Formats: sequence, C-alpha cells, structure tokens
Amino acid sequence: MKVLLEKVAHSFDEKTFLFKDLNYDLLPNRTYALVGPSGSGKSTLLSIIAKWLEPAAGDVKYQNIDKINWVFQNPHGVANRTVLDHVCLPLLAQGNTERSAQRQAKEFLELFGLLNIADSLFKELSGGEAQRLMLARGIASKPNLLLVDEPTAQLDTKTAISVSDRLTHLADKGAIVVIATHDEHTRDACTDVIDLVNWAV
Ligand SMILES: Nc1ncnc2c1ncn2[C@@H]1O[C@H](COP(=O)(O)OP(=O)(O)O)[C@@H](O)[C@H]1O
Ligand SMILES: [Mg+2]
Repeated sequence: MKVLLEKVAHSFDEKTFLFKDLNYDLLPNRTYALVGPSGSGKSTLLSIIAKWLEPAAGDVKYQNIDKINWVFQNPHGVANRTVLDHVCLPLLAQGNTERSAQRQAKEFLELFGLLNIADSLFKELSGGEAQRLMLARGIASKPNLLLVDEPTAQLDTKTAISVSDRLTHLADKGAIVVIATHDEHTRDACTDVIDLVNWAV
C-alpha cells in the first residue's frame, strides 16, 4: 500500500504555481504533517492526493489504495446520537455484528480518550471532544488513506494539544495518514513533515 507523488505541481491560473516538482512516497503506519503558511496550498494538495483535483503537472499513483476517508476542519456529527453510535456506524456498515461493532468502537474511543463519554450525545461534546470523535470515526471506517484538514484550527490551545496528542494513534491500524496543519503541536505529533516551503515556486 502506497501513494506516490511524482513531480506534482499545481497552479489555479496556469501562471503562478503553489508548488512544483513535489516527489514523495506516502507509506502506511505513518502520519504526515503537511505544513506551510496559510494559502500555501495544503488543502489543495490534500485534494490532489485524494484525486479530487487533477494536478497541473505530475502524477499521483495509488498502489492498493481503495478506501479514502476525510476528516474536515469542522466536526460534523448527529446532535442526538451518542459518541458510541458515531463510531459504531461505519463498523456496522462494514458488516460487523452489533456486538463486534460495539467492542471495536470502544477500542477506538479508548485510543482517543473518549471511552468515559461513550454515552454522551454529540451535542453535549466540547470542541476538542467532537474533533477527537471525528478522528476516531475516520479511523473506524478503516481507510487505507486518511486525509485530515486542520483538525485543531477551531480549538483553543489546550484543547488543540489534547487533539494533537491523539493523532499518533491514527496510523496505528495501518493507514496512511496526511494531516494539513499550521499548528506546531500537531506537526510534532506526526512521524513525518512535508513542508510546502521546500516545493514553493
Ligand atoms: N478552486 C480554487 N480556485 C482558485 N484558487 C484557489 C482555489 N482553491 C484554492 N485557491 C487558492 O490557492 C491558494 C492555496 O489555497 P489552499 O490550498 O486552500 O491553501 P492552505 O490550505 O494552505 O491555506 C490560495 O491562494 C487560494 O486562494
Ligand atoms: Mg487549508
């Protein structure tokens, strides 16, 4: 399982390039912090990695990648559903029995420090709890490739740190994880750093 970025470049106007000649192999069990100042092209590169957006030049090649999942900047959940329900749902969709889905969901909640609030409703969660739940749900859907855009952007520093502390667990189950961020704690929580400054034009 691998994602190969080969000489990837992008421009929205065919004149100014956000980045050029970006070569990178993305591997399982690693979390990549995709960093650079605001407007440097982090979200754009995530879209290119997801193959939502065709790069102006270069190629994105997948080796045995068939399931991609996104975790967006703003946590979206179902107000009156419990924390446990949110994580059970993708596991049930994979064909697990109710019992097995619940057992696995609790493991994911434990990883993300949410087990003690498994029965809370989504609407009762703090920003940091909701964001960690989105990460737990993202990984419960068992993607090969998990793309996360600015998971701590909406959070205060303390809450952001508690989210960052859990990011290392995202790749525990063998996924390739890419996290766009401009937060240094998030960056430090990742195993690798892709700094767009290195490919800026
Ligand atoms: N669909 C689009 N059309 C034109 N320009 C865009 C589009 N999406 C993003 N941009 C521009 O490309 C640059 C990089 O955007 P983005 O990838 O969102 O940066 P980052 O996520 O690093 O803040 C910005 O200048 C942004 O305005
Ligand atoms: Mg962005």
